[in-house]
Formats: sequence, structure tokens, C-alpha cells
Amino acid sequence: MLRLTVIFLFYVLLLVNTSEQQQLINSTTIATCNFTACNSQRISCSSNLNCDCFSLTSNSNIGICALTTLSCESFVRCNMDNVSCSIEIATTTQKSTTTTKKLTTITTQKPTTTTKISTTTSTSRGWFSTGNMINARSTHTASVLSNGKVLVTGGNGFGGTLNSAELYNPSTGTWTTTSNMTNTRRSHTACVLSNGKVLATGGTTDGISALNSAELYDPSTGIWATTSNMTNARYYHTASVLLNGKVLVTGGWNFTITFNGAELYDLSTGTWTTTENMTIGRYWHTASVLSNGLVLVTGGTYNVGALNTAELY
Ligand SMILES: *[C@@H]1O[C@H](CO)[C@@H](O)[C@H](O)[C@H]1NC(C)=O
Ligand SMILES: *[C@@H]1O[C@H](CO)[C@@H](O)[C@H](O)[C@H]1NC(C)=O
Ligand SMILES: *[C@@H]1O[C@H](CO)[C@@H](O)[C@H](O)[C@H]1NC(C)=O
Ligand SMILES: *[C@@H]1O[C@H](CO)[C@@H](O)[C@H](O)[C@H]1NC(C)=O
Ligand SMILES: *[C@@H]1O[C@H](CO)[C@@H](O)[C@H](O)[C@H]1NC(C)=O
Ligand SMILES: *[C@@H]1O[C@H](CO)[C@@H](O)[C@H](O)[C@H]1NC(C)=O
Ligand SMILES: *[C@@H]1O[C@H](CO)[C@@H](O)[C@H](O)[C@H]1NC(C)=O
Repeated sequence: MLRLTVIFLFYVLLLVNTSEQQQLINSTTIATCNFTACNSQRISCSSNLNCDCFSLTSNSNIGICALTTLSCESFVRCNMDNVSCSIEIATTTQKSTTTTKKLTTITTQKPTTTTKISTTTSTSRGWFSTGNMINARSTHTASVLSNGKVLVTGGNGFGGTLNSAELYNPSTGTWTTTSNMTNTRRSHTACVLSNGKVLATGGTTDGISALNSAELYDPSTGIWATTSNMTNARYYHTASVLLNGKVLVTGGWNFTITFNGAELYDLSTGTWTTTENMTIGRYWHTASVLSNGLVLVTGGTYNVGALNTAELY
């Protein structure tokens, strides 16, 4: 905290030394962050929770890399392309202890006029690391919630199939644990319903049998609750939210049968009904909801060999 305060004071001194001080302090700034220099010295949060590189500059070519005494969770991240951050900048140094936390990536150009500084990074291209997930996973799911966070569920991790779920906060670049799913699942699906809840379906726990169960995550409570079972246990299937709000599950495998069947989840009743079969059984296929409301299913596997066929629902 002390070092940060020092850094903040340094920043304020920089501002004091510029004729733009007044405008900078009370302005909305479309800013350009250049992370090329800073990123080369970046120490990822994953390897050291309390040390990171950040840009703190009024010149797009200069980044300041500094040890921090606050954990990365305390920082607003503006290191994605064109991410806008609302930064409540202080007008005096007295506020520095509360505001340095938020000053990680402020860069400024020609200000306009409001009370916040908004930071946009537009020069940063390509890939750079963000916080590590709490659990290592594969064959998991990731869904963007309506609040902007990303819910990651299940998958194959150390020690087998996971029931755990975690949330990524894009504004901090960090992950937090949320409640466990009722079932351990991998190769399952998760889709965001029109009411904001997330429906997880099927998958497998043991790699011997498929799951018919489904469950709902409520982002407002962070809790999972079971909902009715699907008609068929399946994994390697798809789940798509239709324009009418229902969820179409198609195909998949149950270790014996490649399903051609499809079923619909009605979120208003919490029940499943079978719908027309696909023309062929498929797993590892895709299903996309088109703008006209039809669902395009493509390819996948039927017993051995990949399919080139496509069909519409
Ligand atoms: C900054 O903006 C606030 C709210 O618009 C205003 O009350 C204040 O006087 C402004 N300060 C400066 C230094 O312009
Ligand atoms: C970003 O910084 C690097 C290194 O200082 C510099 O070479 C490059 O020109 C800068 N890019 C922009 C768009 O300012
Ligand atoms: C990012 O910002 C730049 C500069 O403001 C703009 O030209 C570009 O269209 C933006 N890109 C996106 C994806 O918003
Ligand atoms: C989730 O379940 C695992 C065991 O499968 C347990 O170790 C962990 O504490 C649980 N986490 C939560 C948030 O309940
Ligand atoms: C779902 O099916 C499993 C068996 O596969 C059963 O144990 C469970 O009670 C069922 N759950 C519901 C909500 O019907
Ligand atoms: C797969 O589903 C079929 C039809 O429901 C069933 O007869 C078969 O036993 C299932 N296989 C496994 C491994 O559960
Ligand atoms: C779907 O196909 C399965 C077997 O492939 C069959 O048992 C079932 O009757 C068919 N359902 C419909 C609605 O045609």
C-alpha cells in the first residue's frame, strides 16, 4: 500500500507537471494503453499474487512496471482490447489510498468533460495471460452470464471429474469459486437461459455411463438446483437456447448408442419433452441457432468416421 501510494503520488506529480492537469482530473478520457513495453515485464498474477506490471502513464508509449503490495484482485484491469473501465479518480492526493487501487492502467489523451476517467486500450493486440482458474480442467464448459462474468463448470481435472464451478470477473481478471454442481460432469453442456440462469445437462462422471440429470445455476444466489432429468442420458451432445427460450438438446452418445433424438427443455415448467429425431445419430457435432430461429446441426461422428451432413431444425 505504501509503495502504491508513492506510485500514485508520482503519477499525481506527473499530472501536476502537465498543463492538462485540470482537464485530466475531471474528464472522461479516451485513452490508449500500450502494453508492449509493460507486458514484457509483466509478472502474471498466477505466479505471484502480489506482484504485477501495470501501465500508469499519460503517454501511450510509456508503461511503469512496479511491484505492488496489493493483490491483483484489487486492481481494475484494462488490458484487453478496448475494455472501458470506470475509474473514480481523486481530485486530491488525500484520496490516494482509496484510489490507487483503481489506477492500474490509466492512460490519458485528449480529455473531454465528465467526472470519470474511462480507459480504453486499443493498441494491445494478441494474447496475454489473465488469472488462472482455480482448478485445472478440460472438457468443461464456459458461459458468459448476463452480468458479464463467465461461469466455468465441471470437466476433467486432477483427481477425476469435477463438480466444481468458478466465476471469472473480466474487470479484475480473477476467478472465484462458486457453489459446486450437484453432479460431477464432463463433456456436458451449459447454456444461459433467457431468465439468466445456466442450465447444465448430461455429460459423464465415470466415463462408463452418461448422465440424464440437469441442473440450474442461479447467478443471483450462486446456487445450483436440480431440475428434471432429460429423457435420455447423453454426453458429447449439444444444447442450444432457441428464440422462444426453450433449450434444444440434440444427439450425443451413451457409450452404446449414438442418439439421433432431440429433446426440449421448457424453463417455465422445468420439464423435458422429446421432439423430432434428427435424420441421423450424431455426437461431437455442432448446433447453431440462426437469426431466423432455425437450428443448424452440422457433422459430428456416427459410429466411426466424421459426417459432412448438415440439417435444420
Ligand atoms: C469536477 O466535477 C464535479 C462534478 O461535475 C464538480 O462539482 C467539480 O467542481 C469539478 N472539479 C473541477 C476541479 O473542475
Ligand atoms: C508501444 O510501445 C513500444 C515500446 O515502447 C513501441 O515500440 C511502440 O511503438 C508503441 N506502440 C504505440 C502504438 O504507441
Ligand atoms: C477499438 O478502439 C479503436 C480506437 O478507438 C477503434 O478504432 C476500434 O474500432 C475499436 N475496436 C473495437 C473492436 O471496438
Ligand atoms: C466442492 O466439492 C469438493 C469435493 O468434490 C469439495 O472439496 C469442495 O470443498 C466443494 N466446494 C464447495 C464450494 O462447496
Ligand atoms: C434422475 O435420474 C436419476 C437416475 O438416473 C435418479 O436417481 C434421480 O432421482 C432423477 N432425478 C429426478 C429429478 O427425477
Ligand atoms: C444407451 O441407451 C439405450 C437406449 O436408451 C439403452 O438401451 C442402453 O442401455 C444405454 N447404454 C448405456 C451404457 O447406458
Ligand atoms: C427417434 O428414433 C428412435 C430410435 O432411433 C425411435 O425409437 C423413436 O421412436 C424416434 N422418435 C420419433 C419421435 O420419431
